[in-house]
Amino acid sequence: MIDKKTIAKNIPNAIKTVKVKGLGKKESGKVRDWYSKGSFRILIATDRISAFDKVLGLIPFRGAVLNMLSQFWFEKTRDIIPNHMIGVVDPNIMLISEAKALPVEVVVRGYITGVTSTSLWKRYSEGERVIYGIKFPDGLKRHQKLKSPVITPTTRGTGAGGHDEPITKEEIIRQKLIPAAIWRQVEKVAYALFDRGTKIASSAGFILADTKYEFGLDRKGRLILIDEIHTPDSSRFWLKESYYQKMKKGEDPENYDKEYMRLWFVKEGYAGRGKAPQMPESLIVKISQRYIEVYEKLTAEKFEIDTTKPQLTRILESLSKLI
Ligand SMILES: Nc1ncnc2c1ncn2[C@@H]1O[C@H](COP(=O)(O)OP(=O)(O)O)[C@@H](O)[C@H]1O
Ligand SMILES: [Mg+2]
Repeated sequence: MIDKKTIAKNIPNAIKTVKVKGLGKKESGKVRDWYSKGSFRILIATDRISAFDKVLGLIPFRGAVLNMLSQFWFEKTRDIIPNHMIGVVDPNIMLISEAKALPVEVVVRGYITGVTSTSLWKRYSEGERVIYGIKFPDGLKRHQKLKSPVITPTTRGTGAGGHDEPITKEEIIRQKLIPAAIWRQVEKVAYALFDRGTKIASSAGFILADTKYEFGLDRKGRLILIDEIHTPDSSRFWLKESYYQKMKKGEDPENYDKEYMRLWFVKEGYAGRGKAPQMPESLIVKISQRYIEVYEKLTAEKFEIDTTKPQLTRILESLSKLI
C-alpha cells in the first residue's frame, strides 16, 4: 500500500477540479467533473469529498479509488445488467455513454441503520413501522440485519444542493416517474446486484450494509446501470470480523466508508451549517488510507498509481490524448 508519507506529500496535489481547454464546457457534481461529447461523456473523479451535501475537503487518491472501484464492479456485474462504462483511460477518468437518468435513486438496504431523515433506523426508532411503504416488525435493533434486503427509493434532488426525498414504489408508478414494467426490472436487477455485491464484499471481509444505484435508459431505451457502483461513497461497508462483537456491546460497526469522516465533523460540532472546520493532515491521511485499503481488499489487487508526478499532470496528459 502507498505509505503515509507519500499520501501526506500528495495532499497539496489532491485534485480539486480538472479544467481543460478544447473539451467544451466543464460540468460538475459534488465529486465528479465531466465533459459531454455527444453520446458519451468524459467522467473525471476528483478528490473532493462531500458530506451533508457539501464539499468539505480533498483526500488524495480518493478519486482514483472511486473510479477504479466502480470499474471493478461494473466488470463484475455486467452479466446482470449492461452499464455505462466504455473504458477507463486513466485512474481518475472513465469514458461513459450518456443515458437518460431515471428520476429515482435506488437504495438497497440489508441492515437497519443510519442517522439522517431518509435512513431506516432514524424513522424506525421514532416509532414508524411502515417506512417507504414497507412493513417492519417490532423489536429490531440498530444495525441489525434485515430478514431480506429492501428497496427504499428516493427522488433525485435536482441541481446543486438538491435533497433526496423518500418515495414509495406505488408513488413512483402513480406519479408516472418510471413505467411499471421498467420499475419491476429495476427492482429485480437491484436485488441481484446487491446479492453479488454482498457475496464479493463478504469474501473480502466486509458487510455491504446498504448501497445506492442509479439507472438510466440508453439510446435504444434499454435499462442500463449508470453513475458509480459499490464504492465507499455510494455504500456502507462494515468490517465483518468485529460486527457481532460491536453489535453485542451496543457499539457502531467499524466503517470503511464516508461515515468515518462524517463522524469527525459531527464530533467537531459541524452538521452541515455554517463554516466547516478544516480537516487536519493526520485525518486526511487516515481517510485516504481507508479508501485505498477498501479498494485493495475488495479487488484483491494492489492500488497502483504513478506517484512520480502530480496527479493533475498525469490526468491532463491522459486527457490530451482524447482531444
Ligand atoms: N451515464 C450517465 N448519464 C447521465 N448522467 C449520469 C451518468 N452517470 C452518472 N450521471 C450523473 O452524473 C453526476 C455525477 O457526478 P457526482 O459528482 O456524483 O454528482 P452528484 O453531486 O449529483 O452526486 C450525477 O449527477 C449522476 O447522476
Ligand atoms: Mg454522486
